[in-house]
Order: sequence, then structure tokens, then C-alpha cells
Amino acid sequence: MSQKPKVFISRTIPDEPLARIQAACEVTMWPHEMPPSPDELRAHVTDVDGIVSMLTERIDSDFLAAAPNLKVISNYAVGYDNVDVSAATAKGLPVGNTPGVLTEATADQAFALLLAAARRLVEGVEYIRNDEWQTWYPLQLLGSTVSGATLGIIGLGRIGHAMAQRARGFGMRILYYGGSNQAFADEVGATKVSLETLLQESDFVSLHCPLTPATRHIIDAVALTQMKSSAILVNTARGGVVDSNALLHALQTNQIRYAALDVTDPEPIAADHPLVHLPNCIVVPHLGSATWETRINMGLLAAENLLAGLRGEPLPNCVNPEVYG
Ligand code: GLV
Ligand code: GLV
Repeated sequence: MSQKPKVFISRTIPDEPLARIQAACEVTMWPHEMPPSPDELRAHVTDVDGIVSMLTERIDSDFLAAAPNLKVISNYAVGYDNVDVSAATAKGLPVGNTPGVLTEATADQAFALLLAAARRLVEGVEYIRNDEWQTWYPLQLLGSTVSGATLGIIGLGRIGHAMAQRARGFGMRILYYGGSNQAFADEVGATKVSLETLLQESDFVSLHCPLTPATRHIIDAVALTQMKSSAILVNTARGGVVDSNALLHALQTNQIRYAALDVTDPEPIAADHPLVHLPNCIVVPHLGSATWETRINMGLLAAENLLAGLRGEPLPNCVNPEVYG
């Protein structure tokens, strides 16, 4: 009887994908809410054949050196900026991610943030909680009109496209920068423009690009000065796409009107960080894909990637297919 492969899962995942992995593997699952430290992580992978990792874990060459038997890295996320992919590729290790299954949930979150910022929903809730609601008056908590406004999408990939589909339902004009899928652009009637034009003309700017050296701080002090003073920035991509200090300054000085952030830099952001306390900023804790169905489907895809890698088969979703030849 051949031994089952050993697998480490770096956080509790939903039951259904866990059962699928347990049926074929000997599983150790990190049970805590907080991630394992780099030392703890290395200590748990000395004899594993596969890992299901989270975006909170740094999968770098130190990690890889500690896991000599590793055959596959299955990242439980579509983004994989936490993985040093070139180091994995150098060792011939396939890296899997979970695209597609979280597209709609993340676009829903981005549009929810867009609407919440536009109509100042969080301020309205606070207003009543603070016992400020005395009457109705015409200039009370006025926000921004969404219908017919211009949405600039940075990164027209799967999630950017789903965001554009939602925006179409609100009669928005759609500009985009980055992303080369012409069918996506045509289907939603999005116009490709330069970054500068997008920033200058958009009432809402929504970020949907991966974090790479090219997109790090794409929203910096210069970009923020190019935006309309009435503009609203929505980030459901990665915190590092935005220069947090520049954004703080832009919001404090009303260079732009509002920001709604699902992701931050640093992450987690501390409760006493000034961005958290600005009246014109909403921050939520990286919940883009956080629905029951989505987190189960991400787990099932992560399980498929893991099990394929353990069998020596190509991963259904591999970010470094060059390992196959
Ligand atoms: C979440 O941020 C993901 O990349 O899946
Ligand atoms: C607002 O509530 C209105 O009736 O115009």
C-alpha cells in the first residue's frame, strides 16, 4: 500500500474542499486565525509534498529551502504576489491559483464600495448612531451621482470586466487602462485610454490589476493630482497598487473626494491608522471574495490544483506553466 502524500494547509478552509483533500492526503491544517510565522511555516513543511497557502504567507526561497519534498504550491487566491514565482519555477515547482470562481464576488464588493462611497452610506449610519439626525434638509450628506458617471477601470481582466458589466447597468461610461482582452472591452463598450486620460476624465477609478513591479504605486501623488477633485477611488486589488501616504494626503486636502478600500498597505491596517478615521474614506478588511459559495469554490479549485500537482499532472490553473517544458 503506497503512502498518502503529506499536505500542509496554512489555515482552516471550508469542509467540502478539505474533505476532498483529506480523501487523498495526510493533512495538517493550521487551526488558528492568525497565520503561522515564517519559522512556524517552515517547521510544518519539512516533509510535505504539497501546500495550500494563503495570501498572508510569504512563499519565498527560504520557505522552499525548508520544504525539499514539495511538488506543488496551491495558493488559495487569484492573486499570487505573496509567492516568489521565479524561485518556484527555478525548482520546477508548479504554482496554482484560483481565478474565475471569485470574479463575480469581487466585482460585487467593488461595486458595493463604489455605491457606499458615492452615497456616503457609512457616514449616514454613523450620523444616526451619533444622534445627529434632527431633521431632513436639502444639503444633508450630499454624495455623488453614479448613474451616467464615468468609471475608469485600471486592469480590464476578468474582475475589471465584471465590474464594467455592473457599471453598464447603471448607465456609466467606461474607460480602461491595462488589460488586452479586446472581447472584454467590446462586450462592455469600454474605451481604452492612457492612464492620464483615465485619471483626468473618470468620476470613479476602480483598481483591478494584479500587484507587480509595474503596478506598485500606480496611484501615487502624481496620479492623485491628475484625478478630478470630485473623484472616488475604489481598491479591491492589492493595497500596494496605491501609495497610502499620498492617498492620505489627497483625502485630507480634498484633492479627491473619497476612497473605498477593500485592501490596504500595510495589511492588516491598524485601527489607529489615519486613513481609518477620515470621514471621506471607507476601509474594510480584504473581503472581496468573502462569500460562502466563493470561498468553497476557491477551495475546490485549490484542491484540484493541489491533487493534480501531487499526481505529477499539469495544474488546472497554473501561473507558471513554463515548468512543464
Ligand atoms: C484575494 O485577494 C485573491 O487574490 O484571491
Ligand atoms: C424624498 O424623500 C422625496 O420625497 O423627495
